Amino acid sequence: MKNFTKFENKTTAEKLIQQAMHYKENPWIDKAKGQGKRIGCIFLNPSMRTRASTQIAAQQLGMDAIVMNMDKEGWALEMRDGVVMNKGTIEHIKDAAAVLGTYFDILAIRAFPSLTNKQEDVEDFVFNQFIKYSGKPVISLESAIRHPLQSLADMVTIQENWNKEIKPKVVLTWAPHIKAIPHAVANSFSEWALGCGHDLTITHPEGYELDEAFTKGAKIELNQAKALEDADFVYVKNWSAFNDYGKIITTDHSWMLKEKHLKKSKNAKVMHCLPVRRNLELSDEILDGPRSLVTQQAKNRIYAAQAVISQILG
Ligand code: CP
Repeated sequence: MKNFTKFENKTTAEKLIQQAMHYKENPWIDKAKGQGKRIGCIFLNPSMRTRASTQIAAQQLGMDAIVMNMDKEGWALEMRDGVVMNKGTIEHIKDAAAVLGTYFDILAIRAFPSLTNKQEDVEDFVFNQFIKYSGKPVISLESAIRHPLQSLADMVTIQENWNKEIKPKVVLTWAPHIKAIPHAVANSFSEWALGCGHDLTITHPEGYELDEAFTKGAKIELNQAKALEDADFVYVKNWSAFNDYGKIITTDHSWMLKEKHLKKSKNAKVMHCLPVRRNLELSDEILDGPRSLVTQQAKNRIYAAQAVISQILG
């Protein structure tokens, strides 16, 4: 594996899921594998889980991990080629990424979307600049359009909570929020759930259709109550509009998941990638109750990252 940026195929995904579960049982089994190697975790945006879990994963493989908060500690980066840098940017991505490539064996990058420039976001322009200019393997710590380490951890979590032969019914439901939120988690979850063969239904208010590139093969049901019928897993997430790009169309509170919404589910487990705004996106009664898998998902981020780094190390 060279880069880890998205769902590649079912075989690779299943291998990574098994590897992650193996590392959960035996976190230090490969503690010599990364000795003498360094991973640079470069954050252009805030993080708690991704930052800590990736560092722990690298440590369990014997690697050194260096975290750089480029949004606060680095120079303001210019991303466009050929510009006269006489405004706010101080260092060009060509130079910064090339230098980082000489410091590290693997780079891991978080670069959120602008939610204003749809073309650039859809092309994952900023994230791809690091791939283009660093010359080293790159892991996505969440790009403009995908969050694959989160999705891998989510697939591990579903597997841990499902012991039947048939695939579970998985529902991805939109939740209210007061801010314009990226599509990356929802896109990636859909991409991985479908790729792993789950029966996926996506429900959201009208106007919140995701990019079809990620949802082809999912059932789209605009009636949330209907979508939640017979659900085994419900993944809760807000995202802003994709067609009316980056806009908040509604904050309809009735979409926030409570116990009463799950009466016709199959005693569904509830997932969220965190951070979550309690009683806005998801109710206390669900988050603090027996259905919630959110802490287990967050813990599995360690082993997802460990499996991916291990594959890249070879
Ligand atoms: N789920 C997730 O990526 O969390 P952080 O933003 O805290 O890293």
